[in-house]
Amino acid sequence: ASNEFCDATFVYGDSGCNIPPSVSSKILIKGGTVVNAHHKEAADVYIEDGIIVAVQPNIKVGDDIRVIDATGKFIMPGGIDPHTHLAMEFMGSETIDDFFSGQAAALAGGTTMHIDFVIPVNGSLSAGYKAYVEKAKRSCMDYGFHMAITKWDETVSEDMEIMVKEKGINSFKFFLAYKGSFMVNDELLMEGLKKCKSLGALAMVHAENGDAVFEGQKRMIELGITGPEGHALSRPPVLEGEATARAIRLAGFVNTPLYVVHVMSIDAMEEIARARKSGQRVIGEPVVSGLVLNDSVLWDPDFHFAARYVMSPPIRAPGHGTALQGALATGLLQLVGTDHCTFNSTQKALGIGDFRKIPNGVNGMEERMHLVWDTMVASGQISVTDYVRITSTECARIFNIYPRKGAVLLGSDADIIILNPNSSFEISSKSHHYRTDTNVYEGWRGKGKVEVTIAGGRIVWENDELKVVPGAGKYIEMPPFSYLFDGIDKEDAKYLSSLRAPVKRSTT
Ligand code: URP
Ligand code: ZN
Ligand code: ZN
Ligand code: ZN
Repeated sequence: ASNEFCDATFVYGDSGCNIPPSVSSKILIKGGTVVNAHHKEAADVYIEDGIIVAVQPNIKVGDDIRVIDATGKFIMPGGIDPHTHLAMEFMGSETIDDFFSGQAAALAGGTTMHIDFVIPVNGSLSAGYKAYVEKAKRSCMDYGFHMAITKWDETVSEDMEIMVKEKGINSFKFFLAYKGSFMVNDELLMEGLKKCKSLGALAMVHAENGDAVFEGQKRMIELGITGPEGHALSRPPVLEGEATARAIRLAGFVNTPLYVVHVMSIDAMEEIARARKSGQRVIGEPVVSGLVLNDSVLWDPDFHFAARYVMSPPIRAPGHGTALQGALATGLLQLVGTDHCTFNSTQKALGIGDFRKIPNGVNGMEERMHLVWDTMVASGQISVTDYVRITSTECARIFNIYPRKGAVLLGSDADIIILNPNSSFEISSKSHHYRTDTNVYEGWRGKGKVEVTIAGGRIVWENDELKVVPGAGKYIEMPPFSYLFDGIDKEDAKYLSSLRAPVKRSTT
């Protein structure tokens, strides 16, 4: 295609394709069941100029208003994906889905906002931020940023403050794995945790012991295990459990909230559950791949097939996914992400003969809402209100943008999906909307289908057709001091006064 905005047939671009986007500023959704995290009710929803202006039964409007019939269907907040990597440079490659193609696919699957990880450039946060502002220019869906911290000095510390106070970032991620690239040591993690606490920013961790993973990789190569199964064997659950426990204990020592990304194992999940039981502020995020897939695929004799499933931490043996589902259903884990990070077959082939060179990552942005519905709601494990909580509302609360996002309420952004529980979906790389050429959920059929997606008040997905506009997505600033910080000052004061209580001591 001569114009990059026209690189997919489903796109109605605003600069080059000359097809006007179909924008309806006033929409009425009639006859459905409105579902929020705490309540569901039969009601209509009326939208004007991108905002929900009424939620009540029997709303009457004039003939000029677009009306969508939602009889027998659920009207819910659009999904928010807390964990994506679009256009990320990683392991000598760049992820094939960028802010436009990844977001377009997400909209087709009922997700209306995502939070992507800004990667610093040579450790510089400001350079990383600038690069990501550029990458995100063609966004067709609302997005926010987390930021990774990969080195420590005075400039990084000052830049963290600028990011929080001026750039709308309220979370920072520390990689305890990827030795030699993103990995940080405990000293840096401690500095970062202290800084996060002072700024009211949420510390996030990729929890695997990177030094031990390095050792595990050497062990596999020495044994002659060079294929994708070597990836899983080199970084077993115990290394995820160790790093999760360590990060939790250090966050507890600093007394600041912690968010553990991509919880893939029972080992990590149990550390989170134990900490939460003791009252510690810890959030656990399983991702769709970890919930619904298992590691058998990594032993497939076809390298190309097996390599699709290589991600870190690895997809685990069968019992882990079902345990993570149970933990999600009972509230031990709080929300679902994807860690969407796609590489095509050519990129994955970089690791033929050495699993350490397979770019890590799987797809999920487009499938998350359907797979969570199918696996958790259609199966009977959770209610529809819980579905809204774990796919949208809890994310909005944690990142402090609720109820603007994560709710179908008066005044919320008009990010809405209409899901038909009696319809069905099927996943295939032939019909998905990514740029990547494979899909780790290929052939999956399930119950429930997102029939309509409304993002920022625009109908972007309807009748299996996408109508997205590059540049229509807004950057969502996320303010610091979410609910996770409530009461921390009181806890600290109590701790300090206990230290300062005079010790009656004799010296004779
Ligand atoms: O394999 C993965 N997870 N790729 C993305 C980077 C990360 O660790 O989140
Ligand atoms: Zn990670
Ligand atoms: Zn092959
Ligand atoms: Zn990730």
